[in-house]
Amino acid sequence: MCQTLDAVTLCREAAIAVYGRWVKDKKERAKGTFSGFELQADYWELVGESSSDIDMLFTKDSSPDILLNQRHLVLRGSRASSILKMRSIITQCFREHLFDEGYTELSPPTLVNTQCEGGSTLFKFDFFEQEGYLTQSSQLYLETAIPSVGDCFCILPSYRAEKSSTRRHLAEFHHLEAERPFITFEDLLQSIENLVVDVIDRVAKKAEKFPDLVARATNGKPIKRLERPFLRMTYEDAVAYCREHSIYKDPETETHFEFGDDIPEKPEREMTDKINKPIMLCKFPASMKSFYMQKCEDDRRLTESVDVLLPGVGEVVGGSMRMWKPDELFEGYEKEGIDPAAYVWYTDQRKYGSCPHGGYGLGLERFICYLLNIHHIRDACMYPRYRGRISP
Ligand code: 4AD
Repeated sequence: MCQTLDAVTLCREAAIAVYGRWVKDKKERAKGTFSGFELQADYWELVGESSSDIDMLFTKDSSPDILLNQRHLVLRGSRASSILKMRSIITQCFREHLFDEGYTELSPPTLVNTQCEGGSTLFKFDFFEQEGYLTQSSQLYLETAIPSVGDCFCILPSYRAEKSSTRRHLAEFHHLEAERPFITFEDLLQSIENLVVDVIDRVAKKAEKFPDLVARATNGKPIKRLERPFLRMTYEDAVAYCREHSIYKDPETETHFEFGDDIPEKPEREMTDKINKPIMLCKFPASMKSFYMQKCEDDRRLTESVDVLLPGVGEVVGGSMRMWKPDELFEGYEKEGIDPAAYVWYTDQRKYGSCPHGGYGLGLERFICYLLNIHHIRDACMYPRYRGRISP
């Protein structure tokens, strides 16, 4: 068969069928799933030929843009395909954890007429002559479902019109969001910590069965298990840490961060990498956080909020307790310049039997970057979307 025209003109990526005997292989040359077996082939045939220009399209050293233009073919490569498979396992582990904890999975709409995380990153579109937005977060809808189903979650795309392209920002990302009624801020912190640690343990356990797959996806690095409890720091502690460790608001003038300043991505990552373990950064000032966040009882300048920061990646989870009384919420709308008319259903949540509640959102791609040792977030996606890239 090797003498046939098909064999001589065979190109990379052709689809073929191989016939033979599937036998036990005492030498165990095959690795992974087929370990201990081999196919003793005695016949093959061409099913779908592949064009000979395939070798000119890209090499593994091509620029990121060339590789992304050919993403539909790059996906067949060993690292990209292993990452896709690991992503599926990781998503499954999130679902297993949440179902074991008694959560209900929901599917809120992603075409909406409300904002959740500030107007500057809203994607607007024409929804049959009305202004519509691609959702930034499903949180507001999940909140409406807690009197209906209790603890709930969703894993759906969220969208952000991020102007800057960094190695951790996408325009479309997958957002695991959860919401829980009748909890305290401490309960919220514990459930986030529990989720992150337990999901990594589950992935590591499943991965034991597929060592080759993991090695290809992580470039040979082991899955990094984490230990509870995570280091807890308040926002004020972080400002003090930056001052003490020469992490500046403006490195040129060596200006320090002051209370009330947003600590942007770069210095935040510098701090996380210096500390080099997961951090739960808590109690951000209300002035820099979203309109719906519950203020702290003992200091009304602060909110019951948390960001989970992981070394190498930075912020992976953002969560908070939610305002649950209508008066506070109206102040929140005013602060954000939001017309409450479109939020009647959200306000009603506070009018008809509200309770203390909270939740969080975890960026699936950022979590995958951490777990699989991926440098750039685009490599954690099937087809990444960010400023300048909407194809393929
Ligand atoms: O901190 P964020 O903006 O929080 C919310 O959207 C809340 N409403 C979530 C909630 O409480 N239900 O986003 C949460 C997480 C971030 O920590 C990050 O991991 C991810 O979503 N994320 C992004 N991931 C990739 N690209 C972007 N542009 C992202 N923006 C947020």
